[in-house]
Amino acid sequence: DKVCANEEMVMAEKFFFFCFLLQGVCCRDYSISLPEKIAALSGSCLIIKCTFEIEEKYDNELTEKATGVWLKDGTDVNKKLVFSSLQKSLIKGNITGKLKEKNCTTVFYDLRSNHTGQYYFRIEGTNELKHTFTQDSVSVNVIESPHKPTVQLYVEQKEVQDQEEILEGSSVSLRCSAETLCSSPPPALTWSSTPRIPLSDSSRLQELILISDLNFTATHHQHKDTFTCTITYQLQDKNKTAQESITLHVKYAPKIFSFSSCTRTDAAVCFCEVDGSPSPDLEWHLSGRPVTNSSNTFISEERMSSTVLRSSITLHQSLKHTSTLQCISRNTHGNASQLLQLLPPVECLNLLYVLIGVASGALVVIIMCAITNIYIR
Ligand SMILES: *[C@@H]1O[C@H](CO)[C@@H](O)[C@H](O)[C@H]1NC(C)=O
Ligand SMILES: *[C@@H]1O[C@H](CO)[C@@H](O)[C@H](O)[C@H]1NC(C)=O
Ligand SMILES: *[C@@H]1O[C@H](CO)[C@@H](O)[C@H](O)[C@H]1NC(C)=O
Ligand SMILES: *[C@@H]1O[C@H](CO)[C@@H](O)[C@H](O)[C@H]1NC(C)=O
Ligand SMILES: *[C@@H]1O[C@H](CO)[C@@H](O)[C@H](O)[C@H]1NC(C)=O
Ligand SMILES: *[C@@H]1O[C@H](CO)[C@@H](O)[C@H](O)[C@H]1NC(C)=O
Ligand SMILES: *[C@@H]1O[C@H](CO)[C@@H](O)[C@H](O)[C@H]1NC(C)=O
Repeated sequence: DKVCANEEMVMAEKFFFFCFLLQGVCCRDYSISLPEKIAALSGSCLIIKCTFEIEEKYDNELTEKATGVWLKDGTDVNKKLVFSSLQKSLIKGNITGKLKEKNCTTVFYDLRSNHTGQYYFRIEGTNELKHTFTQDSVSVNVIESPHKPTVQLYVEQKEVQDQEEILEGSSVSLRCSAETLCSSPPPALTWSSTPRIPLSDSSRLQELILISDLNFTATHHQHKDTFTCTITYQLQDKNKTAQESITLHVKYAPKIFSFSSCTRTDAAVCFCEVDGSPSPDLEWHLSGRPVTNSSNTFISEERMSSTVLRSSITLHQSLKHTSTLQCISRNTHGNASQLLQLLPPVECLNLLYVLIGVASGALVVIIMCAITNIYIR
């Protein structure tokens, strides 16, 4: 019993092996290779890459006279035919592949939204060969406007998210990539920025993806600058565009103070303005000690923008002529400080001028007296 079962198994194996061989050698069947789905821009073209196989016995029918046919949303030749290489049809196009070489690559022109649908290929020979490839079809989607490109931000060669920090001085690469749809001329990518700065970029095509890199070194001037990548298709009647933007967030230590000064009447009033990202803090130091709000000191702060802070200090107190005033600014990326000149009060100066005036007057009188004296003697 057991031996019998074993023999059956061996027989079955041999049979399957035989079938496998047969299929490989002689039983070539109909098949087609098509993309699953493709997008096309309304008013533009579409290329369907396509190759097929037929039963070997019909190979001799694939001559120059063979006809390629496309059916839409069904496989009934009488009702669903939208393109035939033999005659003028509903869709303008051309079979650019050589049917003789089993290449059914097709280009359609001037697509409209009503061309969206499922497309089936059919091959017709000169005699008996007439076959619709119903197993596989391509889904065509006609869109009115192109899809947005994708913008990626790389800092020191590493991809980061938009809001992540870019340190001043680091190398930045903005990469724009977009799928390319059939069009003549082919689409182009361009970079622009606000505020406008000269940009040099280079575009290249990688498979069917168009890529444009913008490389530069981050400076604090670029904080909050917006970079926009635009894809442009030049169609007969109009241009179709789509764009994507990115805003940079550059971090930097407080800069050279853009504005600092003191005026002095009955009280000393000093200003300090500092630029940093993230927005810095500001501290006042009088003769090396930190000063805070108190009865005779008044400190006010004003944020001029997301990065600029202005502070003023009013000192209602007698200051020694050796007193020094300093404003110190900090953020997470560093610190900076500025020494301010505490000029003597205006009244003091006026008194000084009077004294100088009086002294020089007296000197003139003394000299005159001396000269007169000498002359009299
Ligand atoms: C169709 O494509 C072939 C091969 O590229 C070309 O020779 C022919 O001129 C095209 N016909 C039309 C109508 O565009
Ligand atoms: C089929 O024909 C198209 C258009 O002529 C060509 O670009 C493509 O390379 C051909 N494909 C194959 C597999 O030969
Ligand atoms: C699509 O619509 C256009 C008009 O916009 C018409 O001329 C054409 O016959 C339609 N095509 C199909 C396949 O229905
Ligand atoms: C820009 O930088 C990227 C990566 O950071 C690099 O792959 C690319 O070659 C650079 N392009 C130019 C024009 O320097
Ligand atoms: C389309 O864009 C091109 C290049 O950007 C330009 O030269 C042309 O004038 C534009 N055409 C229309 C109709 O706007
Ligand atoms: C100092 O006090 C004034 C009035 O109370 C207030 O407006 C100001 O914000 C204070 N300054 C600081 C730095 O806290
Ligand atoms: C910031 O100040 C501290 C002292 O308060 C100093 O040790 C440090 O070096 C400063 N950092 C920078 C970046 O200036």
